[in-house]
Amino acid sequence: MTDPAITANGLRKSYGDKTVLDGVDLTVAEGTVFSLLGPNGAGKTTAVKILSTLISPAPASGEIRVGGHDLAASPHEVRAAIGVTGQFSAVDGLITGEENMLLMADLHHLPKAEGRRAAAELLERFDLTDAAKKPAHSYSGGMKRRLDIAMTLVGSPRIIFLDEPTTGLDPRSRHNMWQIVRELVTDGVTVFLTTQYLQEADELADRIAVLNDGKIVAEGTAEELKRIVPGGHVRLRFTEPTAYQGAVSALNEATPDDDALSLQIPSGGSQRELRAVLDRLDAAGIEADELTVHTPDLDDVFIALTGGATIPNQPNQPNQPNQPNQPKDAVR
Ligand SMILES: Nc1ncnc2c1ncn2[C@@H]1O[C@H](COP(=O)(O)OP(=O)(O)OP(=O)(O)O)[C@@H](O)[C@H]1O
Ligand SMILES: [Mg+2]
Repeated sequence: MTDPAITANGLRKSYGDKTVLDGVDLTVAEGTVFSLLGPNGAGKTTAVKILSTLISPAPASGEIRVGGHDLAASPHEVRAAIGVTGQFSAVDGLITGEENMLLMADLHHLPKAEGRRAAAELLERFDLTDAAKKPAHSYSGGMKRRLDIAMTLVGSPRIIFLDEPTTGLDPRSRHNMWQIVRELVTDGVTVFLTTQYLQEADELADRIAVLNDGKIVAEGTAEELKRIVPGGHVRLRFTEPTAYQGAVSALNEATPDDDALSLQIPSGGSQRELRAVLDRLDAAGIEADELTVHTPDLDDVFIALTGGATIPNQPNQPNQPNQPNQPKDAVR
């Protein structure tokens, strides 16, 4: 077993009397994608900045190790092992894309020829070769973001921090970015990712942690997190009030919505459960106009965990008012 790429124990950060991180523990295995989720202002960028040596924890935290080095004792060694794409662009708009890349190569002390080769290769990989000689201020938002990440990869870091790397990218560029992250991980790189696109975490992350009020409120694989929220259901919709009323009587455990002429039946969405519902409708001679199956997704998890609701079976839950979990459909 190799050492984890990143470990933090009791990570703390306060600004004045405002506590942003209140004792956060993290472990990221080498060659995996770890995604930190949380609402705006939860402290994701703060965590990234501390772990990448850009700011120091305060008051003192427990031990933080990144890339095999103690962050407090050996910040230079940590810096040599990592690459960081911040939430806000590090691209210099006044110079060209290529010059931005070569500047990074210089910062990494790459020999000139090697720097040129790395720059050309990365510009090609990020589909920026045609724009390489143009000033970066003329790039679109998505091109700047791609250049930003290409710059992070100069120097072949073994650990990469990506703070909302795909915010503002169109769906195709986002999928391209996911592909690049997957390729990096295949090469053994460790990726620490923050994102507001929960599908992104679902697609990429080996493990996901949800940060809320300065603490990790849940951690696990996407599948594990989805299991902690109830909310799987079948939804039946009717256009005929009589058919609707018939269904309400036939399915007495369902939650009716008289205005929408629809009802929700709690269900894991398995074939057997669906058939049972359909059999009962058939037996009552009722046909629904629309049937949809809703399985909990990470959006449900996020809303439940960061909206003040209490989740059963989760240790470390702060005492919060007991609110029922609402499935996404009911919230939106
Ligand atoms: N330099 C600073 N001085 C004072 N407060 C700060 C400073 N930097 C961050 N904060 C506060 O710390 C909290 C966490 O900010 P942070 O940027 O880490 O959140 P985030 O989870 O990255 O949010 P977002 O999703 O909006 O990017 C916020 O309340 C922010 O106002
Ligand atoms: Mg942020």
